[in-house]
Parts: sequence; C-alpha cells; structure tokens
Amino acid sequence: MQTKLLNLINYFKHFIRFDKYRKIRNKVIKINSKKNNLYDYGESFFYQDMPCINLPGLRNTYKRIEVLDLNKLLFSKKFLDIGCNTGSIILNLNTDFKIGVGIEYNSKLVEIARTIAEEKKIINTKFLAENFLTYEIDEIFDVVLSLANHSTFDKGIDDTNLYFKKIDKLLKNNGILVLESHSPLYEPPKKFEEIVNKYCKNYKILRNGIYKFGNFYDLNRNFYILKKNEN
Ligand SMILES: C[S@@+](CC[C@H](N)C(=O)[O-])C[C@H]1O[C@@H](n2cnc3c(N)ncnc32)[C@H](O)[C@@H]1O
Repeated sequence: MQTKLLNLINYFKHFIRFDKYRKIRNKVIKINSKKNNLYDYGESFFYQDMPCINLPGLRNTYKRIEVLDLNKLLFSKKFLDIGCNTGSIILNLNTDFKIGVGIEYNSKLVEIARTIAEEKKIINTKFLAENFLTYEIDEIFDVVLSLANHSTFDKGIDDTNLYFKKIDKLLKNNGILVLESHSPLYEPPKKFEEIVNKYCKNYKILRNGIYKFGNFYDLNRNFYILKKNEN
C-alpha cells in the first residue's frame, strides 16, 4: 500500500516535469512496463531512482553513492555490480572509474541500463543480462558491489555460500567488497551481521555503518566496506 502510494507520487513527479529527459524517461517507462515472469522489485514503477535522467524511484541512488563513498572508492577501478537492477548505481557515479560491469538476470532492466548508458554516452560500462550464480565471468575486479543481493526475495540468489565463493573468485587480493544489507524490516540486523561473520572471514572491515536517510526502503540498512586479505 505504501509502495503503491510512493510509486504514484514518483510517476506524478515524472509526469509534471517537462525537461530534456522526458523523452528518454518515457522510453524506459515503456521498457519497464513489459511483462515477464520475474519478480518486479519496483512494483510497477522503478526500484532505483535514476538521477541522471530525473527519474524517480523507491531507493535513493545519490545518497547511497555518497554514504558508501563510491566515487572515491571506484576512481580508476574496474568493478562489478551484482544484481545491478536498472544499473542506476553505475550510471550515476562520476565517470572516472575504469570500467563498471553490471550483471542482472532480468533482461528488461538490462535493456533500460543500456538505453540510458547510450543516451548519456557513458562508454566505460558493460551490462550483462545473465544469472550471476551460473554465468562464467572470466575477469578479475578491483571492487565488487553486493548491494542487497547476498540472498534475494525472488530466490534468484538462493545459495549465499556459492554467492560469496563466486565473489571471492572474482575479486583480486586486497580488492574491496561493498556489502549492503536488505531493509531491517525484512532482514534483522543480527542476521546480516551473522552473514558477514560467516562468509567474510577472509576480509578486513575498513568501515561499516547504517543508512540514516530515505524512506523505509533505504532507512536503517547496514553496510560494510571490506578489504580482501592476500590468499
Ligand atoms: C533486491 S534487488 C537489489 C538491486 C540492486 N543491487 C540495488 O541494491 O539497488 C535484487 C536484484 O537482483 C536481481 N537478481 C536476483 N537474482 C539474480 C541472479 N541470480 N543473477 C543476477 N541478478 C539477479 C533481481 O532481478 C534484482 O534486480
């Protein structure tokens, strides 16, 4: 009910805005309205907002980037964003990272990410319409973003052990893992802490904290910035 209301307001914010991004917003809204059998995290509108085209969404991308200090962390780096959704985190960073790769198995969301990257001429990005758990990624990354993805409501990530094993394989020694919890309304903070303790033994905690911004989608989520030890 609350989400329906937020989405109504978000659509209205788009509708009354006659700016230079209106056309591209209409284009991605049309792509987003395509039906498939995958769970819709945006519940008919957008889960992530997309500030680079003034598109509202349920989650606050700029505040996440700011609190996680991603522009600094990703400067000149090659990174992977797991379950990137519409690619909003990648597409709203400063563009001085080396290459940003997003992997997302809901292909219409990848189509949206690619459409916006092309429109905004963000060339150092790659979006893979693939399943993170099964797709063979033959690359090593400086940074991996695991934002609310270590297990997913739609059961697309149903094996957290395999998930962290795969991250470990893809992340270089001394690389950085950015880990964000689900909302505490869905994942109790203690449970998230247990996951960090269980699966990130080979990592050193550089910083952790709690989101103190946004609506109930963002508010009170936990995050960890972790550094992988030498193997
Ligand atoms: C809770 S949302 C988080 C989205 C994004 N990481 C964020 O925090 O803004 C989970 C996302 O992961 C995607 N997903 C779920 N299982 C996946 C899988 N096995 N491979 C790739 N993407 C997956 C979903 O489609 C969804 O977009």
